[in-house]
Amino acid sequence: MRIFSGIQPTGQLHIGNYLGAIKQWIKLQETNECIFSIVDLHAITVPYNSKVFSEVVLSKAIEYLACGLDPEKSIIFIQSQVKEHTELAWLLNTVCPLGDLRRMTQFKDKSKKFKNNINAGLFNYPVLMAADILIYQTDLVPVGKDQGQHVELARSVAKKFNKTFGNVLTVPKVVFPTMGAKIMSLEDPTKKMSKSTPASCLFLIDEPKTIEKKIMRATTDSGKKIVYDIKKKPGISNLLTIYSLFSGHSIKELEKEFKGKNYSEFKKSLAKTLINGLEPIRRKTKELTNRDVYIKEILNKGAKRAQVLASSTMEKVRGSMGLLKLD
Ligand code: TYM
Repeated sequence: MRIFSGIQPTGQLHIGNYLGAIKQWIKLQETNECIFSIVDLHAITVPYNSKVFSEVVLSKAIEYLACGLDPEKSIIFIQSQVKEHTELAWLLNTVCPLGDLRRMTQFKDKSKKFKNNINAGLFNYPVLMAADILIYQTDLVPVGKDQGQHVELARSVAKKFNKTFGNVLTVPKVVFPTMGAKIMSLEDPTKKMSKSTPASCLFLIDEPKTIEKKIMRATTDSGKKIVYDIKKKPGISNLLTIYSLFSGHSIKELEKEFKGKNYSEFKKSLAKTLINGLEPIRRKTKELTNRDVYIKEILNKGAKRAQVLASSTMEKVRGSMGLLKLD
């Protein structure tokens, strides 16, 4: 299977990114042909600091490697290094109906949040994402729940393209993890944990003291029992999900273990589990920091390998759309 997925280089990676996306990627890279990108061209559709942007992008590559992505097994690269992504995005813009883009909930949310910068790139964002996926003839796209609508759009663009110009593009399928597809905010468990609200996040490289502080402060619900009930107890249910995914114990086992114990005991134990669970990522991130030459070499190689695949699709797309080829 050919796999593609990506993460925007905005802020640090949090446990939502890890449990929703990266953890799946690490498993998938063992038995599939995987391509993972740092999608910098998506990140610039909202206000960002251009002075430090290239450093932020490099730090994402470090976090990818620290989480266990292996450049020997997967192609790891920066989206803007493979120019075919933007070329295909333009061509797909001519296929994608305006009405489909207007329905995108992420566009609606972001245009509320960044009222003074609702640019055309933000609106066309899902078309670039469709290009990212379709240019590699991707079979599977492992993402968290919030990206489901965008992958659905990529599927419908591929189908429409194929119907109009012939069978050129693979129609991809989305894969969500069975658990952890939507990790909720620590502050407000009715909202998604999101990089754009740092207070909602537990970051992968948070120091042990910060982890403890954030978990002890995490919003819980009235009542005392540690039981999973997404409607009545969204806070405890979210923490139980996180606990289960980091400990390998099922939610049922955790409910049994914490029967009769209070929220504070539960949170202390969860903080300890997270501190231990994230320790290897924290350590590897530190080890890789300042190894820019090594990281850039990986990204360079990744971009070259990705480009071979991308240019082969572009050749077919250009031909099927009737663009003139000069010998
Ligand atoms: P981004 O950068 O917002 O998020 C990266 C990945 O993390 C997942 N995720 C979560 N999963 C569970 N719980 C959460 N709270 C949570 N928050 C984020 C996301 O679902 C995603 O899988 N548009 C994409 C990036 C992108 C992309 C692509 C993805 C661009 N091109 C092509 C796949 C294929 C995005 O903004 O992800």
